[in-house]
Amino acid sequence: MSSIPKAVENRGPFLERIEGGAAETTVDERLVTLTAPMSAAAEQYRILLHRLRHIRSLRGDAIQGGAIVAVTSAVRGEGVSLTAANLALTAARSRDARVALVDCDLRRGGIARLFNMGARAGLAEVLTGKTEVGEALGRYHEGHLAVVAAGRAPGAESASLLAGPRFAQTLSLLRTLFDEIYLDVPPALATADAQVVAYKADGIVMVARAGETPREQVAAAVRQLSGAPVWGLVLNGVEPSRVPAPLPVVKGHLTSGK
Ligand SMILES: Nc1ncnc2c1ncn2[C@@H]1O[C@H](COP(=O)(O)OP(=O)(O)O)[C@@H](O)[C@H]1O
Ligand SMILES: [Mg+2]
Repeated sequence: MSSIPKAVENRGPFLERIEGGAAETTVDERLVTLTAPMSAAAEQYRILLHRLRHIRSLRGDAIQGGAIVAVTSAVRGEGVSLTAANLALTAARSRDARVALVDCDLRRGGIARLFNMGARAGLAEVLTGKTEVGEALGRYHEGHLAVVAAGRAPGAESASLLAGPRFAQTLSLLRTLFDEIYLDVPPALATADAQVVAYKADGIVMVARAGETPREQVAAAVRQLSGAPVWGLVLNGVEPSRVPAPLPVVKGHLTSGK
């Protein structure tokens, strides 16, 4: 569906505000949507966001309340967490939607680290009844993005927790509170969790590494999710030279530079 270049601009720590914790926190520089919003990579996330919004609009009234988009892959390390986080931030930056990002990777959640959320309770605590969703929500980007980390390893089978009533209730609640809900989902070939979550989503985005993930694995992952609505594929880690650079804006004028 979209190509996301490998390189991210090297910038210093980027401060973001989080409610319910320290006043400000440093987010990971790989969240290029925040740290390098004019980069080619950030532009690719915007392209992805608007394609997904278009697909959603084609679904019309079929989606009740906020739309749930699950981001997954065939195997680990493809860039699911980074894609889900940048996509959610891109949506939040557009300022025309209330956006939530939920880390459903209860085994190896990566969102807390990207947003520097520390030991804040997350989805695992919500699903085991230890906390309420409201307690687990961290607010970013002047309140436009709500983030739920994975929380502590639940000590129970993650697929059973995700298949249980609390997860369904959590998603129903999030649909009433947000317009767009992005789920960071573990890989489809390696876990049962992906299936369980995918069938609860309105759309699924598959992430594959350019030049690395074998086509057969991507195809097998899509087959594994058979019946679930796969909206598209993100080709992650494309050589920046193969992606057209957006025109830089200098003092209000577009320049023709690279
Ligand atoms: N487009 C990219 N550019 C640079 N690094 C990336 C990119 N996509 C993923 N990575 C890096 O690859 C590793 C795996 O990414 P991650 O998002 O955690 O994958 P997954 O959630 O699929 O396991 C991380 O170190 C991440 O920062
Ligand atoms: Mg991950």
